[in-house]
Order: sequence, then C-alpha cells, then structure tokens
Amino acid sequence: MGRRSRAAELCRRAIGWCDYIRAYRLLAELELPGEDYLHVLARVHAYVRPATYVEIGVARGKSLALLRAGTRAVGIDPEPRLERPPGPSTRIFAETSDEFFARHDLTAELGGERVRMAFIDGLHHFDFALRDFMNLEPHCEPDSLIFVHDCHPLDERTAAREQTTAFWSGDVWRLVGLLKRHRPDLSIHTIATRPTGLGLITRLDPASRVLRERLPGLLAEGLATGFDSLAGRKAQALNLFPNDWTELRALLGRSLTDR
Ligand SMILES: C[S@@+](CC[C@H](N)C(=O)[O-])C[C@H]1O[C@@H](n2cnc3c(N)ncnc32)[C@H](O)[C@@H]1O
Repeated sequence: MGRRSRAAELCRRAIGWCDYIRAYRLLAELELPGEDYLHVLARVHAYVRPATYVEIGVARGKSLALLRAGTRAVGIDPEPRLERPPGPSTRIFAETSDEFFARHDLTAELGGERVRMAFIDGLHHFDFALRDFMNLEPHCEPDSLIFVHDCHPLDERTAAREQTTAFWSGDVWRLVGLLKRHRPDLSIHTIATRPTGLGLITRLDPASRVLRERLPGLLAEGLATGFDSLAGRKAQALNLFPNDWTELRALLGRSLTDR
C-alpha cells in the first residue's frame, strides 16, 4: 500500500519473534527494491560479454546459467549440484576455492586467457571471500570485474559468522571495509540489489601483493570489526550504489577501457 517503512517495521517485529524467512525476504525487497542479483548479473553478462568468467560457489547453477555463448568459464564448488549440465565452454572443479588455487593455475585453465569477470559466492565468511579476491586478482586485467555476493547485510543476526537463521548472508560485508582501508586504489561499490547486495570491485592491480602480505592482520582486523560499525552509516560504509541499470551501465562503461 506504499507504506514501506511501516511494512519494514512489521517485518522486523515478525523476525524478532522467530526465524521467519518470508519476513526476511520481504524486508530485503523493501530495503533493496528493484531487480534481484541474478537479473543484474544477467544484464552485466549481456552488456560486457566477458571472454572469460570464473564463479566461486556454483550450487545449482542459477548464476552460471546466465553465461552467454562465447564465454569460457571455470566454476568452483566443493559440492556442485548443477540442475543442468554446464555449457561446452564451462569446466566445473569440485573443490573448495582454496584447494583450487593451490592446485591449479587459473589462467592456464582458461586456455591462457586472463579473467575478465568473476563472481565470488562461496562460503559466507569474509576471510574466504578475501582469499578468493586475493587469488583471483593476479589472474585479472586492471579493468576486469569482480562481483561479490552478500555484501549488504539486513540485520546483525543474518550478518553473523555462525548461521542461526535460514536467511543468512554471513560476514562477507566485512570485506568491503577491509578493502576500502587497505586497497584504496580499488574501485569498490555495493550494488543495492536484493536479497543481500552485490559488491563490484574494479580498477584491479594484478601485481599488488598488499593483501597477501597483510593477510594475518587483515583477518584479525575483520574479526574485530563489529556490526555496529555499520550503524547509521551502512550506505557510506558499503559505498552503496543504486540498483539502476542505466547508472550501473555507465559505471561499467567507465570501468571498462576501450568502451
Ligand atoms: C549461495 S551458494 C552459490 C549460489 C550460486 N552462485 C547462484 O547464485 O546460483 C554457495 C555455494 O558455495 C559453495 N561453497 C561453500 N564453501 C566453498 C568454498 N570454500 N569454495 C567454493 N565454494 C564453496 C557451496 O557448496 C554452495 O554451493
């Protein structure tokens, strides 16, 4: 009925009584209106048409199914449960991302081509997402795009490291602050798309060793960052970007050289 703040308040009350996934989903729609992350990613694939793509966390293959013909892809997941066989240009590695990067040369697995686009959507812990980013970046070009799911938490319960709710984005949000503080050279945005936001990291430096060298300190710093660090400043802390295709396309156009 157009009374969004009242609806959000009712959702929060319902969530206060029990773990009610429908209330969380509705709250996500109210806080992050517009297309969901899969629609946004589909638009990006259609616009960018990346030559190569890497997905960490493929699950049933919903986001992997967005690939366009002509994209050579690698999917990594210790328990892939694809509902349809992957396309002829996609290879699935049934390993954790840490195992994959320890055992394989990603560029070689992509036929000698560097990563043009990646989607990090594995375990919902910031330290895993951080290592995934750290391991992907050396295989990218400076204008490659790295997306990270679950950067916009709805509340403290669903943003915790331990999963106690069916709707859970974990503490991936901690990655945004860490990268902003330690890699100010990167361009970092969180697209306000439901259910839990989509990080977009560009202006990469494949030669950077900053994260690798600071890794133990980064893990400690991330763990010490409380959810209250977002209080009253979530949009600013996460560099929230509107869920608007015209604006996102302009951002992508600026990020991609030769366009
Ligand atoms: C949220 S699902 C991915 C959803 C998928 N990207 C989509 O949008 O349709 C997360 C997946 O990450 C996988 N996963 C968990 N730990 C992982 C790890 N260490 N490395 C890679 N994938 C992992 C899980 O097996 C699960 O299938």
